[in-house]
Amino acid sequence: MKSAEIRESFLTFFESKGCRRLPSSSLIPDDPSLLLTTAGMVQFKPVFLGIEKRGYTRATTCQKCVRTTDIEIVGHTGRHQTFFEMLGNFSFGDYFKAEIIPWSYEYSTSVLGLDPDRLWFSVYEDDDEAEQIWLSLGIPAERIVRMGAKDNFWSAGPTGPCGPCSELYYDQGPEVGCGLDTCAPGCDCDRFLEYWNLVFMQYDRQEDGTLVPLPKKNIDTGLGLERMAGILQGVNSNYETDILRRMIGEASALCGVAYGASDRTDVSLRILADHSRALAFLIADGVLPSNESRGYVLRRLLRRAVRHGRLLGLTEPFLTRLIGIVVAEMGEAYPELVENRDLVERIVGAEEARFGATLKQGMALLEDEIARVREASASDFPGGVAFTLHDTYGFPVELTAEIAHENGLTLDMDAFEAEMTAQRERGRAGVKDVSWAASGAAYARAGERLHRGAVEFIGYEADEADATVAGIVVDGEPADTISAGQAGEIVLDSTPFYGEQGGQVGDTGAVTSDTANFEVSDTRIPVRGLVSHLGEVTNGSLSVGDRVHASIDVLRRERIRRNHTATHLLHWALRLVLGEHVKQSGSFVSPERLRFDFTHFQAPSQDQLAKVERLVNTKIMEDHAVRAYETSLASAREAGVIALFGEKYGEFVRVLEIGNFSRELCGGTHVGRTSEIGLLKIASEGSVGANLRRIEAVTSFDAMEAVYAEEAVLARAAEALKCRPAEVGEKAEGFVKRLKDAEKSAGAAKRADSSGEADSLAASAVDVGYPLVVARVTAPDAGALRELSDTVRSKIPGAAVVLAAESDGKALLLAAGSDEAVSGGFDAGKVIKAMAPHVGGGGGGKPQMAQAGGHEPAGIDEALAAARATLGA
Ligand code: SER
Repeated sequence: MKSAEIRESFLTFFESKGCRRLPSSSLIPDDPSLLLTTAGMVQFKPVFLGIEKRGYTRATTCQKCVRTTDIEIVGHTGRHQTFFEMLGNFSFGDYFKAEIIPWSYEYSTSVLGLDPDRLWFSVYEDDDEAEQIWLSLGIPAERIVRMGAKDNFWSAGPTGPCGPCSELYYDQGPEVGCGLDTCAPGCDCDRFLEYWNLVFMQYDRQEDGTLVPLPKKNIDTGLGLERMAGILQGVNSNYETDILRRMIGEASALCGVAYGASDRTDVSLRILADHSRALAFLIADGVLPSNESRGYVLRRLLRRAVRHGRLLGLTEPFLTRLIGIVVAEMGEAYPELVENRDLVERIVGAEEARFGATLKQGMALLEDEIARVREASASDFPGGVAFTLHDTYGFPVELTAEIAHENGLTLDMDAFEAEMTAQRERGRAGVKDVSWAASGAAYARAGERLHRGAVEFIGYEADEADATVAGIVVDGEPADTISAGQAGEIVLDSTPFYGEQGGQVGDTGAVTSDTANFEVSDTRIPVRGLVSHLGEVTNGSLSVGDRVHASIDVLRRERIRRNHTATHLLHWALRLVLGEHVKQSGSFVSPERLRFDFTHFQAPSQDQLAKVERLVNTKIMEDHAVRAYETSLASAREAGVIALFGEKYGEFVRVLEIGNFSRELCGGTHVGRTSEIGLLKIASEGSVGANLRRIEAVTSFDAMEAVYAEEAVLARAAEALKCRPAEVGEKAEGFVKRLKDAEKSAGAAKRADSSGEADSLAASAVDVGYPLVVARVTAPDAGALRELSDTVRSKIPGAAVVLAAESDGKALLLAAGSDEAVSGGFDAGKVIKAMAPHVGGGGGGKPQMAQAGGHEPAGIDEALAAARATLGA
């Protein structure tokens, strides 16, 4: 079976068991405590915890995952990968052990056709129930092994949902294994391959380690797609399976090194195959290279791949070729690869070129350091330098160690590790350590009172409505009542308030009853489907169950709407002017202004920006209709609707359409017709990171004010230039030109002056075996004195000059001589030494050139006399 067939058969099998087939979630998790999506259960964490409800209790997915904890090993074995696909099925308080155990057996034997005699099973040490179920399927007791927490208790992290598990193993046969009598599932050798993990998700692990039972018992299973493909395709390595083998084949063709030629080159080929998949998927999900957090993970992967490309003899950029194969092999199952192909290739290409440059510099640094250590007759290559090489130049430490070794040096690994540890801590600091809000329980309680567990948002049509209080949160705890003077959150069964989402800020307004008033200062969505109004009770009190009236600040929302629709117009115009690679990577829409971040590779020109602004304003004035409709994600994709870069979507999406030219997935609030926006003015444009630009703009009243403000500046300039505003440009250009001309002739006059002075100084030369000029001159500073001395010397070959000047109450001295003068006995250093005491200063220099300063300019003449005496003039 091909990988694609396994994927499909798994999803179909679990659909037949009532599971809803859902798309893989993004590699960027919604969970702020996680850097990347590492398992199928990540998108369901809040559901397991009972703080979020969805319209189903059974699900199945094929989840893209990236794990980099053991990146150093990736490439060196047939089993380790950074990118992999995990097939999963999930039960949220629905089916449990009695169902999933027989199903996993049925799928393994009947669908995949695995030989039942080769299957082994593990259960958690005290899980008699799971063992009984396996036995009831007719499995011999000796093929069921018990294991401890290390192997058979699974958790997503130090805290959160977890539980005992039961695993399925495939026996590859004694010839593959270590041959020891003790060899059994769990052995480090390759004989027993664990291919499926069934987790009985029952607990929520607290910070202090205690296991609190979850409200319901759940199932989370994960089956490694590549590993299963390996078993079914009869190969011993994940890299021999269809998709990865194709990647290896391409890498091998690129560098002309056959897979299997040597262990060393096989490692590099596997790294190229694995890492290019991780790169393509990470970038397609919105990760961009950077020096922190997930952007750093991406950068490390890319550099490791490029370095290994070099080891394979690839000197030209090659990664975009491999990315092309990833898209061809996997684009059907993951349409985001196809949609973002251009962008992924450009980012990879730019980053590869950038690293190509540092690779050379890194090699130079490495060689210099080796020379330095050798010169000092030491034998340790410093760990700090290895770290810099690793961190700044992307050198794998093994490579640094190897090159050091070849040069008779040993890498100080401890020092390197210490730097790495510090680095990891910095990396962790990038992940906000906030598990789901402490208020989770409070929201869950409010959720129970809601129809289908979700707040109904009616704010697309209505600005105000009657509603019922479904929940109250005060200080993160559920409350029944909130009274005058108290701040907190209120959840209503339905609301016109828009919760901050998709870059659009939350609404403000009021929630009132006959006797109470709650001022809403912000609206948020702490858990999907749950809208929370933040604010304070100004009078009376509100209780759960109260009937209330909710009304938003309409004028504020009006301005937000205008800015939001304008953001879509801006996106459309940017793509038209700059190209299709422009993708929104973030936005912020508030009443006052809008901010739009997008991918682009250089600063747009003034002309391009003017064109963008003009296009947007044209569309505003053409007064196009703006409409929204719901559809499935699949059909929106088919229709070519723009999905936001790095954004995550559910199964059903809302499409926002402007005229017939702009269609984007968007949940925000918008104007009915574009003319409501009035006008857009771009306020600023700049870079906010590698390949990322930001535009800030204002619309309607704020745009009008911006135009007036510019007009005022123009009027002021016109007044200063004494012309009409329309003539300011020409007039200012004229002034600048005249100023430049004046500066030029002033400079020429100055040069002529000093040339005249130099002439008369040269004429005063006396012969002391070489021509010598000793004189008092005028010069504003030491630089001017030096210039004068150079000019004089250029006029009399072989001469020496001694000059002194007074400037700003100080004495400046200079002596300089040609090589001929020096061989004739001139020593500038000595001359200055003889002069300096007369001006209350010190200084010295070489025979050719010396300078000094002093604070007693009255002694200049004596100083010059001393010079003459010294030089016999
Ligand atoms: N979450 C479990 C794992 O990652 C099962 O899906 O192994």
